Parts: sequence; C-alpha cells; structure tokens
Amino acid sequence: MRSPWISFLALGVACGTSQATPTSTAGFKLQPFQIDLSSNLPRMLDLVRTTRLPAQSPYISTGSSAGISLGDLKALQDEWLTTFDWKKEEKSLNKFNHYTAQIEGLDIHFIHERSSSKDAIPLILLHGWPGSFLEFAPIINELTKTAKSASGKQISFDVIVPSLPGFAFSSAPPTNWTIDDSARVFNTLLKDVLGYESYAVFGTDWGSGVAYSMYDQFNTTVRAAHLAFLPFYPLNLEQLAAENITLSSLEGYEEANTKEWTSSGTGYFSEQTTKPNTIGLALYDSPVGQLAWIGEKFLNWSDPNAGHGPSVLSHNEILRSVSLYFLTETFASSVVIYAQNPHGFRSVYSKANNDAPLLFSAFKYNPGFWPPALVAKVGNLVYHKNHEFGGHFPGVDNPDALLADLRQIGDFWEVLP
Ligand SMILES: *[C@@H]1O[C@H](CO)[C@@H](O)[C@H](O)[C@H]1NC(C)=O
Ligand SMILES: *[C@@H]1O[C@H](CO)[C@@H](O)[C@H](O)[C@H]1NC(C)=O
Ligand SMILES: *[C@@H]1O[C@H](CO)[C@@H](O)[C@H](O)[C@H]1NC(C)=O
Ligand SMILES: *[C@@H]1O[C@H](CO)[C@@H](O)[C@H](O)[C@H]1NC(C)=O
Repeated sequence: MRSPWISFLALGVACGTSQATPTSTAGFKLQPFQIDLSSNLPRMLDLVRTTRLPAQSPYISTGSSAGISLGDLKALQDEWLTTFDWKKEEKSLNKFNHYTAQIEGLDIHFIHERSSSKDAIPLILLHGWPGSFLEFAPIINELTKTAKSASGKQISFDVIVPSLPGFAFSSAPPTNWTIDDSARVFNTLLKDVLGYESYAVFGTDWGSGVAYSMYDQFNTTVRAAHLAFLPFYPLNLEQLAAENITLSSLEGYEEANTKEWTSSGTGYFSEQTTKPNTIGLALYDSPVGQLAWIGEKFLNWSDPNAGHGPSVLSHNEILRSVSLYFLTETFASSVVIYAQNPHGFRSVYSKANNDAPLLFSAFKYNPGFWPPALVAKVGNLVYHKNHEFGGHFPGVDNPDALLADLRQIGDFWEVLP
C-alpha cells in the first residue's frame, strides 16, 4: 500500500472471551478448503522456462535504484525451475485448516487455527499488497500455543487469517468495493460465521487500512488493534518539527527511507491507482513479469539481511508468493484495491471511535514511518515498539519480533462487560 505522494503501499482478563461456537452458519456455506493449484502449474513452469531475459540490462550501472536488477530476476527465474517446488509448498500449506464462507455474495477464504486454551484471544491477521495469507504462515501455530507475555501472563490465540477480497482464494469484489466493505465482511466472519463476540485485529499495509476501519467501525467487537503500518499520510521532517516531534537515530533513518520512497518509489502506486487494467492485463499471463513487479517490492521493502537471522524471507518465499498470485490468476484483481481506495491514506489524523487498546510495531526497513506521537493521535496507543531488523513484511522478515509484539495484546486485553 502507499499513497499518492508517498507511494505504497494485532486481556486484563482473557476470561469472558467468548468461545467460538458453531452458530447458524448454514447461510454462510462454511466449508473446509484445500489448496490444489495443480491444473495451472505445468503452464506456469513452461512460461517461466520459455521467458527470455536480455543478456545485459540497459541500465547496467544503476544497481537496484531503477527497479529489480537483472541479476536478481535471473537468479529467481532459475530457482523457480530448479530448487522451488510448488507441490511441496502446497502440501505444507494444506497442514493449516483452511475454510471458505460466503459473505455478502463473496467467497472468503481463511485459515482458522484454534488454541487448545479456552481463554485464547481470537485474533485476525490481515495482509496487504503484494502480500497474502502466506505472510503469516511462520507465526500461526506459535500464536495458538500458550506462552508468556512480557508481564508474565499466559497468552494464546485462536488465529484467523483471511485472504482479502480479490486476493488468492477470495472472490474479486464488485468495482465499487472499498476497505470499509472488507472490514464489514471480516467483522461478519468473526462474529456471525465463527461466533466470536469480541476479538483482536492485526493489519499491515492495506490490511492496516482494513484493521483500522474495523477498530473504528466495530468498537464493541474489536477490543484490541495492532498495526505495523498506518492508513494515514506520514509527515515530512518539517511537519514533524511543527508537531514538536524529535527523532532518534533509528527514527531518523526510517524517516529518510520514507522520504526516498516518496520521491522514487511511487511508480507502481500510481499505475495501480489510475490504470489497474493495463498492468493487471499486461502481467496476467506472465509469471516472470509478475515476479519482476512483485519481487522488486519484496526485495526493496525488506531488511538487507532478509532470508538470514530472524528473517525467513528467502528467495523461496518470494517465489511461493508470486506462484500464489499467478496460479490463482489474481494478480489483476489484487491491484484493483489501489483504484478502489484512492483515499486509502487519510490526511487528517483523528481518533477512532474506539477506546480499546492500540498497539504498533515499527520495523527499520519499512518504507512508512509514524513515530509514537502520531500513532497516539489515531487511537488508544498502549504499546509501541521499533525494531532494528525487518521491513514491510514482518511476518516473514522478523517473525519472532512480530510474534512477541502480538503476545503483548494479552497484557491489555479486556472484554466489555
Ligand atoms: C530501494 O529502492 C530505492 C529507490 O527507489 C533505492 O534507493 C534503494 O537503494 C533500494 N533499496 C534496496 C535494499 O534495494
Ligand atoms: C456496488 O455494486 C453492487 C453490484 O455491482 C451493487 O449491488 C451495490 O448496490 C453497489 N453499491 C453502492 C454503494 O453503490
Ligand atoms: C510546539 O512547541 C512550541 C514551543 O513550546 C509551542 O508554541 C507549540 O504550540 C507546540 N506545537 C504543538 C503542535 O504542540
Ligand atoms: C463506540 O463508538 C461510539 C460512537 O462514536 C461511542 O459513543 C462509544 O463510546 C464507543 N464505544 C466504545 C466501547 O469505544
């Protein structure tokens, strides 16, 4: 996600938390779901194999500043045909419990993993673009296990990870659809389909826009919100100074990275907001084309040490994300979210209609920067942590840190009487 000028673009007491009880879900056609994309797989691999790339880049000396490097693209193309194995990925992803439900005429795909604890906090994790439910795969099982928060409290979660409308296995929404509509559909999913009376929400990128909308619109059911991105325009240095906000050196780096984004990283944002059909159709049948367009974002928005240390954002992870887009034929419908939400970034910082706790996790290489004083303007900020490692896809780029931060929800969780 992001904006026109900047470009891009989850219990005092856990008791009292309602348990998921099968309610009258018949109307929602709730069904188990298994991933099987084998019919498109041979064609994808043929296309990857036969796609030619030039021997030399026309912009040979520009490094990564002109977009994905030819060397990175060729290496990824080669790995797609050699080390990468979609069938293996599919098998591992099918270990999760997947479902589909029909809400407001849309098929909504989601993973639902329950904790064995009856005090588990229901938590929905919302991805963005060019992400997917895959972004949270490394932390789903861990979240369901009972573990201690910083204050020593025993915390566990029932985890729900949907695909946004238009992404992966969720239907493409009508043209006039906005993130507020997705927010309503996900509140219905948690409340009416799964039977949770209250829950926590986490979001990043467009998912943060949906999560914030849920926090704002459904203040009796959304009783904690946690974001790693904010659907408000970041401020420039002058605007921050006018707010009397001073920056640490880490924050200074993040502010500069965001500024760099503003000046040279907004091409895709503008294209997807104004001409989504052109890029959507151009890359519809081109896996290597989608790899260049999407892979560039994974590479550029992540920690330089992605794939090492706490990060599991390897080339293999990028390839399975792009494969998911290609094999589900959803690249074109995914980019439409930009055109549908030209005001995805709000310009006026105002407080949500919700007194529930708001938590925020910042990651050094995320090209979007909001110091705590700004985040506090939009909700009841109770926790803010800035991480030296990780970027725009924290669920894969620093899963350990995101997991630890998500567990902090437990320290603040209280349901309404
Ligand atoms: C990301 O792209 C910007 C230009 O938009 C460039 O200055 C920067 O070096 C790139 N960073 C990485 C890690 O590729
Ligand atoms: C959006 O479009 C759908 C069908 O395409 C229609 O039923 C609905 O009334 C429209 N909503 C608005 C707010 O225009
Ligand atoms: C910033 O500080 C100055 C000087 O103390 C004060 O006059 C001004 O009102 C402050 N601005 C904000 C937005 O708090
Ligand atoms: C929910 O929002 C309404 C309308 O803004 C407000 O009156 C009410 O106090 C809010 N409730 C909670 C629990 O935040």
